[in-house]
Amino acid sequence: MIPVSEPFLCGKELENITDCIKSGWISSAGKYIDQFEEQWATYCNRQYGIAVSNGTTALDVAVHCLGLKPGDEVIMPTFTIISCALAIVNNNGTPVLVDSDPKLWTMDVDHVAEKITSKTKAIMPVHIYGHPVDMDPLLDLAEDHNLAIIEDAAEAHGAEYQTQCHSSNTWRRCGSFGTFSCFSFYANKLITTGEGGMVLTDDEVLAKKARAYLNLYFQPPRRFYHESLGNNFRLTNIQAALGVAQIERMDDIITKKRWMAQEYSHQLEELSGLQLPIEEQWAKSVYWMYAFVLSEETGMDNTEFSLRLLEKGIETRPFFIGMHEQPVFQKMGLFKDEKYPIAERIAGQGLYLPSGLTITSEQIATVSNAVKEILSS
Ligand SMILES: Cc1ncc(COP(=O)(O)O)c(C=O)c1O
Repeated sequence: MIPVSEPFLCGKELENITDCIKSGWISSAGKYIDQFEEQWATYCNRQYGIAVSNGTTALDVAVHCLGLKPGDEVIMPTFTIISCALAIVNNNGTPVLVDSDPKLWTMDVDHVAEKITSKTKAIMPVHIYGHPVDMDPLLDLAEDHNLAIIEDAAEAHGAEYQTQCHSSNTWRRCGSFGTFSCFSFYANKLITTGEGGMVLTDDEVLAKKARAYLNLYFQPPRRFYHESLGNNFRLTNIQAALGVAQIERMDDIITKKRWMAQEYSHQLEELSGLQLPIEEQWAKSVYWMYAFVLSEETGMDNTEFSLRLLEKGIETRPFFIGMHEQPVFQKMGLFKDEKYPIAERIAGQGLYLPSGLTITSEQIATVSNAVKEILSS
């Protein structure tokens, strides 16, 4: 079986973890936590890194820190993981959805302005499958309407965006924009700590609040005295030790991902019936996963196509299902009668291929040939 993704722990991971065990620093304090936070914040050109237990809790921490009041709205793409909407709903907010860009599958930034109301407090762009969202229009809207931006960069470690903001024309890493950026370090991410996440910000006050919230709102001067309700979203030193071992390999990790995408595109580009991933001129994608959308002319949806690949020993994953199509939110009375045609189409027709850091050119050829065979049968 060719797996959809496998972690690649080829550096100092074992050495660092052994150090944690020998020294006894196995809980949520220790030098690797400090190093991981500092090094990842520096990599993303941010002031403060706050390690958390996963990407879902990272988003929760970020939205919590905005201090939303009931009815406050946060604009987000419908096409994403539920963690984004969950963070908003669990912190008093109301998610307001936007359809996807048909070529990039990220939030269609041309439809954000029309969703802004007097209740809007933030925009949550999500860099889908490693390709950055077009951030400049969102940064302009945020400035004009005094909105926070929470950037979900879970799938876009090290991806870059060329901003023209304030005529700067500079390349910036995903995770360097807005009030907060959030990362996941789940096992299939470019950097993985097994489970894990991080929130980045340049705001000292918000960083302090985030730290307090993820640690049960313990507060000085008296431990076990609480003025607010927090959570235990702490990352362990052992997990951070894995992350530290990988940050130093970021250039190699990105090179491997971009090579993988180039190989797949080279093999698949002649095929009609597939919409392959693209890279805008203003973007450097890290191709978290090599994803494509089947056209209707293939007569297959992603379920059937995945099953056919599975029969040939190839694992895949289907695309997200839009938030407006989730029964749990419909039962809550959210997104009633809302339609997002692009997200609906790609949810049914999109899937991603084996894309992990251990993938070989032989495996890419095997997968590509299997795709070709299925399309021509
Ligand atoms: C875009 C995005 N945001 C958030 C998350 C949540 O991260 P985690 O699985 O670490 O909770 C994921 C997970 O894959 C994701 O893809």
